[in-house]
Amino acid sequence: MSGQPPLPPALAELGRSAGPSPYESVNLPVWRASSVLFDTLAETRAAVAATAAGQLRAANYATAGTPTTFALADSVGTLEAGPHAVRVALVPSGLNAIATALLAFLSPGDHLLMSDSVYGPARLFARGMLARLGVQTEFYDPCIGAGIEALMRPNTRMLYMESPGSYTFEIQDVPALCAVARRHGVPTCLDNAWASPRLARPFDWGLDVSVLPLTKYWSGHADVLMGAIVVRDELWPRVHQAVRQQGLCVGGDDAWLILRGMRTLDVRMPAHEQHGLAVARWLAARPEVARVLHPALESHPQHALWKRDFSGANGLFGFELKQASQAQLAALCDRRRHFRLGFSWGGFESLIMPAHLADLRTARPWSGGPLVRLHVGLESPDALIADLQAGFEAMAAVNE
Ligand SMILES: Cc1ncc(COP(=O)(O)O)c(C=O)c1O
Repeated sequence: MSGQPPLPPALAELGRSAGPSPYESVNLPVWRASSVLFDTLAETRAAVAATAAGQLRAANYATAGTPTTFALADSVGTLEAGPHAVRVALVPSGLNAIATALLAFLSPGDHLLMSDSVYGPARLFARGMLARLGVQTEFYDPCIGAGIEALMRPNTRMLYMESPGSYTFEIQDVPALCAVARRHGVPTCLDNAWASPRLARPFDWGLDVSVLPLTKYWSGHADVLMGAIVVRDELWPRVHQAVRQQGLCVGGDDAWLILRGMRTLDVRMPAHEQHGLAVARWLAARPEVARVLHPALESHPQHALWKRDFSGANGLFGFELKQASQAQLAALCDRRRHFRLGFSWGGFESLIMPAHLADLRTARPWSGGPLVRLHVGLESPDALIADLQAGFEAMAAVNE
């Protein structure tokens, strides 16, 4: 005995009741939990069995979810894939969604077909962790379309896509790629960051798995990190086991922030599109710019595919400079008023970032001039254009 008076039991008992009457608010409360409590052993055993089987909304432990995360997972499934029957796993980041989806389907000796234009860290995961586990990755030309047939091997176990591609914005013929993969019994996975959840419906194209950084437009406010894996019902056991065996989960506060952010997505997205197009058209007429990589512009090489498969655009696109030294690039990007240097696009704010593609393209090496990616936010397009104009003037003032 320490001699200290025992803590009053009230500290553990206070404040746990939900209140004297039902209280209906617009938004769900945030559930913060580790243990989930049961009244009887029979209920406990039923919950353990249901959780192990990956049943919807089953949780014997909060790593499997809380009412707040269930509400978000349901919303993601409905927006991304409804009316297709899918299940959704929430994980700590978009990159983790990519890594976990690949781990769920690949084993030593397997062959993975991955688009050359994927998000850089996805490529690093394939070349690093997957290679160490004995998975062989072949990077294919993102514009290969149905020609992917020629690359299929007996041990190909996944076809991985991203459309538009990171930094280079190639549009992939995802329906054609999915059709070939399906004929070969190969599951398909798409990083649908750019289009999700309003600009394309990839499960209508026969897709099996989409991986989503909810960090981007879903949240929309640059204040939270989260990823989702959306998978057809019949493939859920693989993803469920990969998530469960790694103990991957998200907190109620973060899930609540995404739920809050996504409410305004339908008004944010058209604004990003309009502001983005205004900036893109202005850039296309600049003498310093070789071309603008924006799929909604007719000059984009896969504009027809984009029109066929997408219902709109957002604020993320790129442009190629005719030429620029490192010092000139820095003059264009440094200390801009609105276009700050930053990587995680999809918030309300504008961003600028030069690309470094040297190690990131092998099947379709980049042979053009310096590339810059913009995320056009919700600021006034006139102010954004003035900001870039000042950047081009600073670039011109650099004496080489
Ligand atoms: C295309 C794409 N996929 C995935 C991710 C990863 O998302 P997160 O930042 O949530 O890890 C990003 C992040 O920039 C991305 O641009």
